Amino acid sequence: MKLKILFVDDEPNLLQGLVRMMRSMRQEWEIATAGSGPEALERLSQEPFDVVVTDMRMPGMDGTQLLNEVKNRYPEVVRIILSGHSDREMLLKSVRPAHQFLTKPCRDEVLKSAITRACGLRDLLADKSLKQAISRIDSLPSLPALYLEIMKEVESPYSSMHKIGEIISRDIGMTAKILQLVNSTFFGFRRHIASPAEAAELLGLETIKTLVLSVKIFSEFDKTGIKTFAADRIWRHSLTTGIFAKIIAAAENQEPPVINDAFMAGLLHCAGKLILAVNLPQQYKEALNLSRGQGLPVLEAERQTCGVTHGEVGAYLLSLWGLPFPIVEAIAYHHRPGSCPQQEMGVLTAIHVGCFLEYQLHGEKEVDCHLDRDYLARLQLRHKLPEWQDLCLQALAEEGEHVS
Ligand SMILES: [Fe+2]
Repeated sequence: MKLKILFVDDEPNLLQGLVRMMRSMRQEWEIATAGSGPEALERLSQEPFDVVVTDMRMPGMDGTQLLNEVKNRYPEVVRIILSGHSDREMLLKSVRPAHQFLTKPCRDEVLKSAITRACGLRDLLADKSLKQAISRIDSLPSLPALYLEIMKEVESPYSSMHKIGEIISRDIGMTAKILQLVNSTFFGFRRHIASPAEAAELLGLETIKTLVLSVKIFSEFDKTGIKTFAADRIWRHSLTTGIFAKIIAAAENQEPPVINDAFMAGLLHCAGKLILAVNLPQQYKEALNLSRGQGLPVLEAERQTCGVTHGEVGAYLLSLWGLPFPIVEAIAYHHRPGSCPQQEMGVLTAIHVGCFLEYQLHGEKEVDCHLDRDYLARLQLRHKLPEWQDLCLQALAEEGEHVS
């Protein structure tokens, strides 16, 4: 099935240019154009589209208003902003309804890659209503304690970028959102981002303040719908998995970008649990009960009650947000690395083992995380397990010393 893309811009020349630029994709994509927001909505009411790519500044209805309408009426449609550099103020307003942000002039490979990345995992979820619910998400909740900390820090007249970066690095929701922003081309960062703190630093203090205080890009985790959800434990598990994954990748002499991605993938690998807990609280509660009460592996319990696993759900959202592919892929396959098309040591291996070791060191049974020993054997890495475990234990002990 061809991907259907609708380009919206009030300048006819620009639209023609975009159509010309996308000509090489005509085997896979079907392109349509609209000269205004209302015309785009009219087109969408007549036939379904997979992606809307819109200009920001347009007379009448602007790009943000259009994307808000698309989000409400057709939530499953991928929403991309293609805006001029001078529109920075306006762009910040579009941060919530847009999945990705691109700048004009946009090179064809950048546009193609953004669309391909956003749609890459669209077949991962079969359930349309779940897809719609995930496409509507514009922020992942933060741990309440960290949310309070960041609000205090950005509201303070003496706020420090270093402190802000450090808080973001400990939170799943904030890290995911910041990576979504810095991975967009609007801010113009072409190089590989090494850490959530570096990502925040690149955006700069003023932009972060505007995003947090006026645009409200972060939100606080509200566990009223699912009281049994051990939020603190999930955050702790995620952060430690990130640290372990980084240690394992470094021990295997991976390149620095792989080591950094391993940390970020570890920190984000449970994002799907937050999505399920917030969007399907009843079903997710049942999954937790099934797994805890009857010892059913978490993945099976999730599939039985929610129809999907947290790995699939998390990867789906983060790919819509345009996060780097190695991170998204590792999250999608972190519990079943053997099914990943890529069978070599990398980010996925690091978080699969990191996640297992964290559970094991925490004294939890394999119902939460099963180690795929055959996968490690195929990669000729099975014998490395004791060495990795020692390195991770050592890091934990050092961290303990540091804290005390
Ligand atoms: Fe997991």
